[in-house]
Parts: sequence; C-alpha cells; structure tokens
Amino acid sequence: MDIRVLGSAAGGGCPQWNCACANCRGARDGSVRIEARRQESVAVSADGEAWFLLNASPEIRAQIESFPALHPRRLRDSPIQGILLTNGDLDHTLGLLSLRESQPLVVYATEAVRRGFVEGNVLYRTLQRTPGQVTWNTLPLGGEVELTADGGASGLSVVAFAVPGKLPIHLEGLPGARSAEDNVGLRIVERRGGRVLVYLPAVGRVTAEVRSLARDADCLFFDGTFWSEDELVRIGASERRASDMAHVPIGGEGGSLASLTPAPGRTPIRVYIHLNNTNPVLREDSPERAAAQRAGWRIARDGMEIAL
Ligand code: MLT
Ligand code: MN
Ligand code: ZN
Repeated sequence: MDIRVLGSAAGGGCPQWNCACANCRGARDGSVRIEARRQESVAVSADGEAWFLLNASPEIRAQIESFPALHPRRLRDSPIQGILLTNGDLDHTLGLLSLRESQPLVVYATEAVRRGFVEGNVLYRTLQRTPGQVTWNTLPLGGEVELTADGGASGLSVVAFAVPGKLPIHLEGLPGARSAEDNVGLRIVERRGGRVLVYLPAVGRVTAEVRSLARDADCLFFDGTFWSEDELVRIGASERRASDMAHVPIGGEGGSLASLTPAPGRTPIRVYIHLNNTNPVLREDSPERAAAQRAGWRIARDGMEIAL
C-alpha cells in the first residue's frame, strides 16, 4: 500500500490565517524551526494508479496539485477513485465542495456524516449539477466495505469503527440525536499483502477499542492535535481544553504517548497527524518532539510517503 500525506495539520493549518502564536510566526518568518503544513488529508493506493483520499481538506486543490499521481491523465479525469470521511468537521469535508467541476465523485462515509453534510446545505447543490454526480457509499460501523476503482476491485477494503469524538461545531445544538457514527476511525486493508493501515485523526479518549484497533496496525496514524490538555488556554488562544474539543493530548498521564504501546514483538509505523499549529512537537528542536520520537513516533509532514 502506498501512503502519501497531503496535509498534516489540524483545522486552520500552520500557519493559521488569524494566528500569531510562536509556531505560526515561526512558520512565516523562520524564527522557529518549523515547517508550514496544510490541513489533514492522506492519499492511499494499492497499485499506485487508483487513489483514495482520507478526508477532503479545504486545501484539496493545492494538495492534488502537490502530488502528480493525483493529476488527470486525460482531458477530464481523476485518479481519485473515492474519498473517505472520518467525520463531518469542515477541515475534513469542505474540500468536497471544491471538487465541483462535474467530475463524478464517490464518497465513503457513515450515514450520520452524510446526512450532516447534505441536509439543509444549499451549497451541496453544487455537487448535484449532473444526475449521479456524487455516489455515497455507506460505511456501516464494523462492516467491511470494498473500495472500488472504475467499478472493479481496487485491492483495498475498509472498516469504520466508532471512536469517541464530537459533532462538527456547525451541527452542535441542531435537532437530531448525536450518534456513534459521528466520528470514526478507519481500518484499511490491502487485500494482496494483508497490510493494515489504521487511520485515527480525531480521538477523544483512548478506550479499550481504540487501543486494540491501534495495536492491530502495521501503520497507525493517530490524533496529534495537542501536546497538552490546556495548550490553548495557557497561551490565551481559547478557553477550550483538548477534552472539550474531543482530542486526547499526546503528552501527560492519560495522553496517547503513554497509553498506546505496540503489541510485543511488533514495530508498527506510528505517525501523529492532525497537528494543531500550537503543538510544540511541530518544532524540530523541541523536547516534546524528541520525547515522541524516542517512543518511536513520527511527526507527519506534508509530502511524507510510506510504502507499506
Ligand atoms: C476539530 O478537529 O476539533 C475541528 O476541526 C475543530 C473545528 O471544526 O474548528
Ligand atoms: Mn479538525
Ligand atoms: Zn498558531
């Protein structure tokens, strides 16, 4: 399986347009050792021809251009055979509306995420310009779904698992019950070699299920939004703590660094992604980054490639 990181940052990216925290300033003026990052999205393929995007970031146009394997091969064409959504947050879905040039799209999402995106959304009409412009393939919790390419097998299949999370902010307070389908992790298997990619960019708590999902991966992408619970509060950027935003921090006692350990005898590839611009692990020379790396974690960067 070929894996390419198109964007490694959380919502807002790095630098974020309205932020002058030390990291964002450093990404602009070089005063800190940090790379600019686009918002989280990853491309995966079994054969290097048919590609699937994990989430559709607001920067999708530039992200497609950044990776030649995603460029059209004919006058009107795309090697992108499907887009998988882990939740309905705008940093994961807004890119869909940018893909409006009448190209047929295939989107894989839970029914709750689909409804949250299409219902009451007048802008969604831009993806209804031609009959059948968007095909929604439902991801049932725990059920395996084949990813198809041009109607045939792509060599990949996916299972969505419910993971602690939250509703997108723009759906909060609207009628309609919250659902276990609001936020999922993806377990993607390559048929041929049986290699397993587990993609968990938003995790509110490390539960027993999250732990076993993570342990089963040959390659794990995990929520790296915040280093600490009070990261935004401490710099005066927000009153919201990591747990209010349903992101388990990396550091600290209950953090993912301490809670997620590989199964004995296994050395999976483990990558933190969906990195908020305030996160100290973004700085090449930070002690937090060194601690994560000592524990065997990589810090995602845009353009990172993994051959699994
Ligand atoms: C998140 O990951 O918590 C969301 O992207 C936050 C947001 O929508 O601003
Ligand atoms: Mn996000
Ligand atoms: Zn910032």
